[in-house]
Amino acid sequence: DQNHQNAEKLAAAKAAVKLVKNGDIVGLGTGTTATFAIKELGKLVAEGLNIKAVASSIRTEELAKSLGIEILDLGKTSSVDISIDGADEFTEGLDLIKGGGGALFREKIVASLSKQAIIVTDSSKKVKKLGLFTVPIEVIPLAYQYVFGQIVKLNGKGKKRIIDNHDYITDNGNLIIDADFGLINDPKALSDALNKIDGLLAHGLFIGLTAQVMMSDRSEIIIFK
Ligand code: A5P
Repeated sequence: DQNHQNAEKLAAAKAAVKLVKNGDIVGLGTGTTATFAIKELGKLVAEGLNIKAVASSIRTEELAKSLGIEILDLGKTSSVDISIDGADEFTEGLDLIKGGGGALFREKIVASLSKQAIIVTDSSKKVKKLGLFTVPIEVIPLAYQYVFGQIVKLNGKGKKRIIDNHDYITDNGNLIIDADFGLINDPKALSDALNKIDGLLAHGLFIGLTAQVMMSDRSEIIIFK
């Protein structure tokens, strides 16, 4: 249930923030699990931990600032020591689907800049094969029809993300297509194919970007790396 899942998310978040060192530049993820980690970091900062951070979304930036965490401009930051973010699905091979919360593009930039990208999850996120969760795809609005057609060519069933009867608009002013490719046999090949589509800003397949997944399972933290 929800309480149990939240307890797991908190436990994973607590384990991950222990890896943060004084002086680090920390990448802050987006979503409910990342939020637990940001709040834990806020406590440590209040106790004297000296860090600076980059945020993967506007809502994360606002939360971090409210907790007294100094935020750097992501576009001016060349390296991140450690990042902590959630995932919608992950495999033991450390392939992920992210972007359920719509922040995939900045999350990918943060993960790509990170020396150590840590993913924190509850036990519900682990899968044998990715793809039960649809792949979020961020699209520049004027390329929407083109990208949608290209997704169909890759055998994807796309659906524009709508929230409260309105198009969901990302922090970058773009649309999201949630694409169902069925269970994905070769995530790297699909990622590469999607990366070739003009007008597609980013997709939620994170391949080779993760140093470790810290998954909370009841009372223990299981590390995949
Ligand atoms: C945000 O865009 C996502 O990538 C989140 O990291 C992902 O959706 C996991 O969110 P929860 O921690 O809320 O499950």
